[in-house]
Amino acid sequence: MVSDLEQEVQKRRTFAIISHPDAGKTTITEQFLLASHVIRAAGTVKGKKSGKFAQSDWMEIEKKRGISVTSTVLEFNYHDCKINLLDTPGHEDFSEDTYRTLSAVDSAVMVIDSAKGIEAQTKKLFQVTKQRGIPLFTFMNKLDREGRSPMDLVDEIENTLGIEGYPMNWPIGMGKNFRGVYNIAAQNVELNLPNNKVEVISLKDGIPDDPMFKEPIFEEAFSEVELLREAGNSFDPEKIAAGLQTPVFFGSALTNFGVKTFLDEFVKMAPSPADHQSVEGEEIKPTKSEFSAFVFKIQANMNPHHRDRIAFVRICSGEFDKGMEVLNERSGKQLKLNSSTVNPTGENEQVEKAVAGDIIGLFDNGNYQIGDTIHSGKQKLEFPKLPTFTPELFCRVRAKNVMKQKSYHKGVNQLVSEGSVQLFTEVSTGDYILGAVGQLQFEVFTFRMENEYNSEIELVPMGQRIARWIDSDNVDEHDSSSRNILVKDIYGEYLFLFENNFALRWYNDKHPDVKLVEKI
Ligand code: G4P
Repeated sequence: MVSDLEQEVQKRRTFAIISHPDAGKTTITEQFLLASHVIRAAGTVKGKKSGKFAQSDWMEIEKKRGISVTSTVLEFNYHDCKINLLDTPGHEDFSEDTYRTLSAVDSAVMVIDSAKGIEAQTKKLFQVTKQRGIPLFTFMNKLDREGRSPMDLVDEIENTLGIEGYPMNWPIGMGKNFRGVYNIAAQNVELNLPNNKVEVISLKDGIPDDPMFKEPIFEEAFSEVELLREAGNSFDPEKIAAGLQTPVFFGSALTNFGVKTFLDEFVKMAPSPADHQSVEGEEIKPTKSEFSAFVFKIQANMNPHHRDRIAFVRICSGEFDKGMEVLNERSGKQLKLNSSTVNPTGENEQVEKAVAGDIIGLFDNGNYQIGDTIHSGKQKLEFPKLPTFTPELFCRVRAKNVMKQKSYHKGVNQLVSEGSVQLFTEVSTGDYILGAVGQLQFEVFTFRMENEYNSEIELVPMGQRIARWIDSDNVDEHDSSSRNILVKDIYGEYLFLFENNFALRWYNDKHPDVKLVEKI
């Protein structure tokens, strides 16, 4: 018999959208929410022009720049599925945050602007989904505008990403002449009619005797589909499950064409929660009765009216009950879980129950760090550390007001535990050095130190650009110089910050036995 937990787990679809800024991620998210009746009008999630901001644009700095800095979780029901959509910041300076979010999903949706094809940020994020081997579903967006040819776009997936693209439907025209799509498996045509109307015509018994289907634009699409049938990739569920083939859908998020078809197929094909391997090598099944989860994101001050900090956890197994007790494996602390999630309209909603695959936000008074495992079992259980990027920008940091050391240290430690920047300590002096992937991380850090911790800081950019970790056996403090500064990360691991490739090679030549390791 299928247990209640198993049934609930089967309904979960936990995914994130990867895309380059402006490809249409926010627009398609909004259409998902409309389709699932979470919101009633477009513009609720985002309306730059109307001055309304998305719930995720909660920080002043985001408003000023019109970018989304932090991830939030949207949950909604669609058909019989419970969808957890993890939002990710689009700006590349926050790719580390996105990376961590992708460690908490079971599949990903890649949104591509059909005029631009695969852009830099998409390619970078794709590497993460590829590494994790999770299924990837593609939405070729903006067909209501002139774009590149559909053949070209599918080819680009193969050539640039190295995985197969399998068109689930095929566009009939584009731009002003976007007449609809041919759904290949269903053998029907979905017509794009004026005023966002859609009509579906079956082609199962052959092409109907309607002059419209004789128009060159239709004939061209039909012959391309024929070509795909004969010479294209064949549909392969195993490859899809392994992330080696991506089903490709064409449509327009703005005019809401093809989005529902996409969502219908996505909930059918996307996997329910996967097993997670522990550090001890055990495969933790989502239906295991003991609760287990890991922290992938810590977010502070989501509500400007009262200070709060929320640790977002991905449940890997079992069931969450409000008020339950768990162990934080890292700190050894027993914790009582009271929870809240953030829904798209912004009210905090208390979660009473959640199961494997779900994301919950836990109120945090400093008990959690990114990567922490919490669980209700008696045995030791730890999920692997979340990977970090190798930073490429470094600054020395100090409090402007030396009398305010307490708030300075508190701010630095909290923001670092949220993963907003990486912290290093210079071995010879004990000085703090911050590392980041993108300059905006420093700006957000400075802003938050001042606004949330009342601590004005001074950041002095450093010339160092290259970080390489080394084995503690090889550490020789006398090797530290201005060209290669010896520092420790927050886990106590040693690394060198090199000024440039020349300094790196020079060190390598002098110390051929020392293995220098780069993170991602
Ligand atoms: P992002 O979250 O991936 O950054 O993209 P977003 O949805 O904000 O979309 C970026 C721009 O592209 C927006 O226009 C949006 O309206 C437009 N867009 C999204 N999907 C489609 C589509 O299917 N067709 C067309 N033609 N445009 C689309 P904007 O003018 O920059 O922003 P806004 O003022 O409308 O918010």
